[in-house]
Amino acid sequence: MKFSPFVDQIGGKGANAWRLHSAADAAVARGEDVIMLSIGDPEFETPKLVIETAVERLRAGDTHYTGVSGRDELKDAIARDHLRLSGQKVGRENVVVLAGAQCALFCASMCIASAGDEVITFDPMYATYEATMQASGARLVTVPMPAETGFQPDLEALGAAITPRTRAIFLTTPHNPTGVVFTRDQLTVIAELAVKHDLWVVSDEVYADLIFEGEHVAITSLAGMAERTVTVSSLSKSRNMPGWRAGWAVGPAELISHLGNLALCMLYGLPGFVQDAAVVALEQCADEPKRLTEVYRARRDQAVKRLNQIPGLKCTAPQAGMFVLADFRDTGLTGDEFCWRLYNETGVAVLDAAGLGEGANGFFRMSYTTSQEKLNEACDRISRFCNGLDGTSA
Ligand SMILES: Cc1ncc(COP(=O)(O)O)c(C=O)c1O
Repeated sequence: MKFSPFVDQIGGKGANAWRLHSAADAAVARGEDVIMLSIGDPEFETPKLVIETAVERLRAGDTHYTGVSGRDELKDAIARDHLRLSGQKVGRENVVVLAGAQCALFCASMCIASAGDEVITFDPMYATYEATMQASGARLVTVPMPAETGFQPDLEALGAAITPRTRAIFLTTPHNPTGVVFTRDQLTVIAELAVKHDLWVVSDEVYADLIFEGEHVAITSLAGMAERTVTVSSLSKSRNMPGWRAGWAVGPAELISHLGNLALCMLYGLPGFVQDAAVVALEQCADEPKRLTEVYRARRDQAVKRLNQIPGLKCTAPQAGMFVLADFRDTGLTGDEFCWRLYNETGVAVLDAAGLGEGANGFFRMSYTTSQEKLNEACDRISRFCNGLDGTSA
């Protein structure tokens, strides 16, 4: 049977990066001794109040279709949260509720770019970006965040990458997988380029509330940016709610109405009980991110310290988020060899970061969303694995 060219646009390296993760997931389901550090799924429970609200709403019969672009109470709560993080006042017409930041990224991509356009993002990138951007038919152009600079975005290369075909820049701050928090100066350069070349900026800010060092600057707050920025976020990371698929896009009203049309033909609205619970998560669990940040900070410190003690590995501390990138180039192994051997020989599942972009070739990405105890056990196993490698240079 034939498929549309779309299936090639949504395949690719990013999709392959999940192969090991899927194998590990299946092994966990079979009860095998596997430590999953390949994905950023928080081990913590969703706040109780949020769960109780959802259950109560379900029992009350909130199981019907909802307004497709989101309930007003949730849009208002998102607008208030957006104001807190960006200083930018927005109204309901600037907000659309979608199934996670991922769905918001996809919808934004489809509504702002098409075949013949170019869309720029930084390399390395979040695993789904390649497919998300190529889904529109646009050509993905990458700009390096070189490992040698501590994965700082190369803004000269960004300027040089812009052509008359460029339609948008997708940026992630705080960044996954590097944990880099873009500085105000860096974002100002990006904003000036966007204004000068009349580009959209899609700003993925799912980790904005989980910063250890540095300040979160929302690019939409910079001069000339409000009318060209789509800010994407969700409750997945900041409230331990990845499975609820509660996310959103905030942007200019006209674009938001197009995203609403896409939601109509693709999603048909988020469940009402999820939306009401999301209001509670935003309004009544506002301290949760502060608590999480301190927990993750301690784990990050521990993970970075332990990894740096292992022969053949090096890593720098991420400024934010829930992942650390470890450089295993001194072991002489390829990413496939390192990650699959580590998994098969020790049961520790990490992600070969080469699947996240050329710039992360020779690195693996490890999440610290699991308990300190499990993390330590994982580091013990990684240490034994690396110590047992032939020809490893410390
Ligand atoms: C940078 C980035 N963007 C988007 C997502 C997707 O988040 P959501 O669960 O809100 O779809 C993730 C999830 O890991 C992420 O790391």
